[in-house]
Amino acid sequence: MCGIVGYIGNKDAYPILIKGLHRLEYRGYDSAGIALLDNNAELHVYKTRGKVINLEQFCKDKNINGTIGIAHTRWATHGEPSDINAHPHYSQSENLALIHNGIIENYLALKQMLELKGFKFISQTDTEVLVQFIEYIMNEEQCSLYEAVHQALSQVVGAYAIGVLEKGNPNTLVAARKGSPLIIGVGKDEYFLGSDASPIVEYTKDVIYLNDEEIVEIKRGAKEIVVKNLANIELKPKIQKIQMDLSEIEKGGFPHFMLKEIFEQPKSLIMCMNGRVQTELQDIMLSGIRENIEKFRKARRILITACGTSWHAALIGKYLIEYYCKLPVEVEVASEFRYRNPVIFEDDVMIAISQSGETADTLAAIELAKGKGAFIYGICNVVGSSLARVTHSGTYTHAGPEIGVASTKAFTTQVAVLTMITLLLGKELGTIEISLYKQLVKALFEITNKIEKIILKADEIKNMSKIFTYAHNFMYLGRGYNYPVALEGALKLKEISYIHAEGYPAAEMKHGPIALIDEEMPIVVIAPKFKMYDKIVSNIEELKARKGRIIAIVSEGDTTISNIADYVIEIPNTEECLTPLLTVIPLQLLSYYIATAKGRNVDQPRNLAKSVTVE
Ligand code: M6R
Repeated sequence: MCGIVGYIGNKDAYPILIKGLHRLEYRGYDSAGIALLDNNAELHVYKTRGKVINLEQFCKDKNINGTIGIAHTRWATHGEPSDINAHPHYSQSENLALIHNGIIENYLALKQMLELKGFKFISQTDTEVLVQFIEYIMNEEQCSLYEAVHQALSQVVGAYAIGVLEKGNPNTLVAARKGSPLIIGVGKDEYFLGSDASPIVEYTKDVIYLNDEEIVEIKRGAKEIVVKNLANIELKPKIQKIQMDLSEIEKGGFPHFMLKEIFEQPKSLIMCMNGRVQTELQDIMLSGIRENIEKFRKARRILITACGTSWHAALIGKYLIEYYCKLPVEVEVASEFRYRNPVIFEDDVMIAISQSGETADTLAAIELAKGKGAFIYGICNVVGSSLARVTHSGTYTHAGPEIGVASTKAFTTQVAVLTMITLLLGKELGTIEISLYKQLVKALFEITNKIEKIILKADEIKNMSKIFTYAHNFMYLGRGYNYPVALEGALKLKEISYIHAEGYPAAEMKHGPIALIDEEMPIVVIAPKFKMYDKIVSNIEELKARKGRIIAIVSEGDTTISNIADYVIEIPNTEECLTPLLTVIPLQLLSYYIATAKGRNVDQPRNLAKSVTVE
């Protein structure tokens, strides 16, 4: 939700900032802009509606000199996507320029106060209010930019990651964060800002993860940077190494990040299970669970909270944990949980799941449960993210950077982590037979080869997908572990192809949605051969009787459904509880190929952004 990048050093800032914006574009692509202090310390702001490529076009004949600058790619919150609402925003005198990711909630009150003092506003954004407010304080207090930012942020309610430049002050870059991510890259005589590590990793692996309510003053050439919190206490920032390779954030020959990420799922699952699924011992090692086993043992129930795709993984977690650990599990959409005054017990364990670790609603749900004494266990992909820092313990998914807006490898690695947690908990709590435990550990280890086999069917799925570009509606059905996969398949199709799709538990069809079925309606039925198989065959018969067009995901060698369904995609055999790791793959591919056949930009679907850092 908006990407911000900054640079101060000896190199030309413009190419670094533009490349950084391209890397952060997955966070928002409504508009893009850049501010540079040129060699005469003059401040220039260039910004335009649309993607970073438009900004580059726009800057072709502009003065892009300077070794200090900030840049922004926007996902609009306050004010429509337009040139004027694009960041950076100038202050009234055009002495300051500011970029912002987040929402200033009390911006209207601040704006009214500033208007009474004669300030004029040209955009509809909360960000312009913040930069004007900083200028107002600088003038009133006759203080430095850093002090003014400090004072302004003490009076601001809301979330922010900001970068600020001042005309005539080419040696200072000021930045701050609360609720939105911000990383500082530490190079040799140079510093970088980034919403994540992707714009930084090419230049340095040394980074400082700024904490909430920290404000930083970066001076050109300085050996150290000054970090203070809102209470004005100076802090010693910790330099950490980023574990990311440049190749991980590049497309590597694939037309889209989404396709690359679908194809790399076997690899990301190997990384996720590395050292954790121990094949020789047929055992699971998860230090976070082992160290906190008493919390789980004493828990009267487990709450799992998440949003979007991570919520679908959470639903699979419920099926897994209740079946194998005999612990009650409640799954909560974070945005609902945080506002409905839920009952939270001190002995609750909350598992919070988020790819980015920056989803505002999930973080708020964590704070709520933590405040009531619950133990919080995180499942997260991004190392050093806010979620990783606010949880008591947790497990990283180690999927590698996920850049496609539609989540794919994040989902399968989250499900793998939930499976590992379940098996280990079941063993420790004594709710799972050791022989079954070993059998499932082995099957989990073998899953990556089976995913490879499904990926080999990509061309077959691509051909099939061309048939369905006509559709305006799709239905996805599954039962048990594969009901959440039906929800996930529908979400994938919706977000990247803009075809309306619904996921349902297959047997619920009869309670209403079957009224929608006619010869136009494609219905994806997830039907691997397990205990509910005969029931789902009956569900398919009911749909066929109403002329629905069935695409069935079936177990290898299935002949019954192959004879009834219009199209069939086979998945290799595995344990029932592991089928989501396989059945979701053809659904991801189907969505991808339908969307590309319709000419959609699957990596940057309309209205979406990768991490939802605002409510
Ligand atoms: O980073 P998170 O896992 O917390 O993100 C949650 C959702 O915003 C995310 O899964 C979203 O639904 C994806 N676009 C789905 O593909």
